[in-house]
Amino acid sequence: MFHPVQLILKKRNGGKHTPEEIRFLIGELSQGRLENYQLAAWLMAVWFRGMDDEETDVLTQAMIESGDQVDLSSIEGVKVDKHSTGGVGDGTTLVIAPIVAAAGGRVAKMSGRGLGHTGGTLDKLEAIPGMRVDLSQNEFLEQVRKIGLAVISQTGKLVPADGAMYALRDVTGTVDSIPLIAASVMSKKLACGADAIVLDVKFGHGAFMKELADARKLAETMVAIGRLRGRKVRAALSSMEEPLGSQIGNALEVDEGIRILRGERKGTGLEKVAYELAAHLVEMSSQGVDLNAARQKVAQIVSSGQALQKLGDMIEAQGGDRRVCDDPLRLPQAARKVEFKADKAGFLGGLAAETIGTAAMWLGAGRRTKSDKIDPAVGIVLQVEKGNPVQVGQTLAVLHVNDETHLQSAQQALQGAFNIVPESPPREPLIRDVIL
Ligand code: URA
Repeated sequence: MFHPVQLILKKRNGGKHTPEEIRFLIGELSQGRLENYQLAAWLMAVWFRGMDDEETDVLTQAMIESGDQVDLSSIEGVKVDKHSTGGVGDGTTLVIAPIVAAAGGRVAKMSGRGLGHTGGTLDKLEAIPGMRVDLSQNEFLEQVRKIGLAVISQTGKLVPADGAMYALRDVTGTVDSIPLIAASVMSKKLACGADAIVLDVKFGHGAFMKELADARKLAETMVAIGRLRGRKVRAALSSMEEPLGSQIGNALEVDEGIRILRGERKGTGLEKVAYELAAHLVEMSSQGVDLNAARQKVAQIVSSGQALQKLGDMIEAQGGDRRVCDDPLRLPQAARKVEFKADKAGFLGGLAAETIGTAAMWLGAGRRTKSDKIDPAVGIVLQVEKGNPVQVGQTLAVLHVNDETHLQSAQQALQGAFNIVPESPPREPLIRDVIL
């Protein structure tokens, strides 16, 4: 038997936890016997001192065992999942999931909601009129069996230890810790039961990991944990310096995803990242298909309309109005559009992702606190990309507005978001590496 204070002191002083100590802590947390202040102190000790791979793996497993696990074994074929560590304008799931399902993978995905400047897949899906994300386990499994694709909300019974830890990390400055993020993400992914998982690990202004080197360490840690548990896991390292898509806001991101699947947004950053991640999942879930063949398959599945059809099937199966796939203007629309203009000429050197995400949050597209209600229609549509020449008075973004209470706060936030420089900046690929 241990005492929490003993374990806090051990970690605070730079010690390595034994598996029994970690299991004890998570056990106490799950039984409601660990005081929040003690958990907070331990989290901060971990933030400063870190954990090695063995400790992180044991923590992940203990967190998985704190709740239910999804059994996907009754579904035939390779079950696949993806996860992004979060960002702005990151609607890749809406594009990747239908492509991979149309290619034969079985996409059984549980997603989360957005908080702060970052968006969440569930909020985006709920922008589609009628769409349900609260399917029961049976409905979820049946839908994956039938159409190969379901994206729903994670139940509170899945990794409850993560819910308790994340709530405290959020308010104690302990979110951006590599072992804590790795255990949080991988416990949920492994508990969801997929055979093959692609992780999109973000770095840069709008990401938890501001530096590429830290994102790489996080990616390597997560891939190692997945592999130890017998799953195929790959992790892309992708930039979140700028928002990924050009539309930020819930219905706006669904609109952009649909337009990509309709072939109307060729060559955009969102399209490139989504296709590449989809190709990895297609390769991982197909027999005898290498990455190049998988890339070609992705392009063919989109151009033939199969991916759009699959998205429509999922929307219909979850009670939504599939006609949004033919006419995205059926998605909720904001009452007013307000242009945001450049006050300086030059080239767009960068668009600060976090600041743009925060401006969208002020308009009502995101939550400042967990209990905030979001407005699906509002958000920001960017009119320029990094590297574009900019004239004084040119429209840089269009704000889609309903409630004007915080319009000024959004406009003020945007003042600092567009970095206009005298020379065109170098362009770098969005995906810097993939950890296999
Ligand atoms: N996403 C998660 O699920 N957990 C973290 O700790 C950070 C991002």
